[in-house]
Amino acid sequence: MKRLRTTAVHGGRDDLADLGVHAPPIDLSTTYPIPDQPEGGHALQHLAEGAAHAASPVYSRLHNPTVARFEQALAALEGTSAAVAFGSGMAAVTAVVQAACVVTGKPHVVAVRPLYGGTDHLLSSGLLGVRTTYATADRVADAVTPQTGLVVVETPANPNLDLLDIAAVVAQAGDVPVMVDNTFATPVLQNPAAFGATYVLHSGTKYLGGHGDVLGGVVACAEEHAGPLRQVRIITGAVLHPLGGYLMHRGLATLPLRVEAAQRTAVDLAARLDAHPGTGLVRHPSLPGADPAGLVGTQQRGPGAMLAFTTREDPAAVVRRLRLVTPAVSLGSVDTLIEHPAALTHRLVPDTAREESGVPANLLRLSVGLEDVEDLWDDLDQALSGHCEEDYIKSSSSDFREPAASH
Ligand SMILES: Cc1ncc(COP(=O)(O)O)c(C=O)c1O
Repeated sequence: MKRLRTTAVHGGRDDLADLGVHAPPIDLSTTYPIPDQPEGGHALQHLAEGAAHAASPVYSRLHNPTVARFEQALAALEGTSAAVAFGSGMAAVTAVVQAACVVTGKPHVVAVRPLYGGTDHLLSSGLLGVRTTYATADRVADAVTPQTGLVVVETPANPNLDLLDIAAVVAQAGDVPVMVDNTFATPVLQNPAAFGATYVLHSGTKYLGGHGDVLGGVVACAEEHAGPLRQVRIITGAVLHPLGGYLMHRGLATLPLRVEAAQRTAVDLAARLDAHPGTGLVRHPSLPGADPAGLVGTQQRGPGAMLAFTTREDPAAVVRRLRLVTPAVSLGSVDTLIEHPAALTHRLVPDTAREESGVPANLLRLSVGLEDVEDLWDDLDQALSGHCEEDYIKSSSSDFREPAASH
C-alpha cells in the first residue's frame, strides 16, 4: 500500500491511462444504451443485489463511474475494501440506519452524545422507525439490547471536540456494528475501521470537498456491508451527483496538505485563545488535559483543525464583530468558519441534552482554514476584546439596498 499523500493523489485513477485522459471524466449520462436487453437485465439484477459494478451501469441511480472513482479513492484512504457515496452526509447516515436497523429488523440504536445536531435529530425523531438510547461512551454495553442494530459515535465530536476510544466502544458493542462519524478527523488523521468500526462515515461536504461548493456523503466499510448500502441507495435514490463525485475526488488530492496546514494554525490559535481573557473554556485536543486517554498519537494522528470555545460575553456579539472569519455553518473549507451551535447546528437538540453532553449555550465552533495565522488572530482578538469598529459596521450595513422592484 502506498503512503497517505500518494494515495490521496492517485487513488481511484487506475483506469485513466487506458482511457487516455489525465483528469477523471465526468459522466453525466442518466441512462446507458443497452442493445442486448437480456444482458442489460443481468447487469440491473447484479447492481440491484448490491454489486459494486456490472457490465453496464444501466441507469445512473444504479451506478455512476465518476462517483465510483471517488468511492475507490476514499476507501483506499480509509483502508477499507469499499465505500458508498450519497447525496449528502445526512443521506449517508440515513442509509446506514436503514441498512443496519430497518433491513435487519433491529430498530434500536445506541448513540453517544454529542453528535452533529442533524444526526441527533434524525435519531431522536423516530422518523426512520428506530428508537435511540443515548449513553455515555463507558456505558454503551449497558444500553445494547438484542434489538440493537447500530451504535453511533463521533470522535472528535461535533461541536465540542470530545474524543472517545473507538476500540473500547467496539468491544462494548459486541456483535452490533459501530458507525464512527469521521468527518472532523478525516482519513488523514484517523482510520476508525482499523479500530473495529464497521461503518466510517463522512460528510463529504466538509474537508473531503474542502472548498464549500459540494454537498455529499460517503461511508467506508467492508464490501459485505457496502452491498446493503448500495441497495438502499438504489431503492431510496439517495445518490451523489457525478459532479459532486468529481469535486470530492479532486478534493482528496489536496486533503492531507489542507488538513496538515489548517491543523498547524489550529494548534497555534487554540493556545492563544486559551490565554485570551475573552474566552472561558477552550476545546482542542492539543491543549493540556484535553485528551486524558492519550488518543492523539495512538488512535488519532493529530489534534485536527476544529476547535471550540466559550465566550465571556454574548457569543452572537463576538461573531458580529468578526471581519475575516466567515460566520457560517459547515466546516472543513479553505476559509475559516465560525458558528454558534446552540443557535444553529445543534438548535434541534433539546437544551438539557445539549448542556448535559458538554455543549454550553455560549460555545462557538471554529473551523480553521488556510489563511495566515496572524490575520486570523488579529480578527479573533479584536472580536473577543470588544474592539468593534462601530463606524465600519454602520457604513457596511448602510451599503445594503433593497433591490429595485422588477416589472
Ligand atoms: C459531523 C457531521 N456529520 C454529518 C453531517 C451531515 O452532513 P451533510 O450536511 O453533508 O448532510 C455534518 C454536517 O454538518 C457533520 O458536521
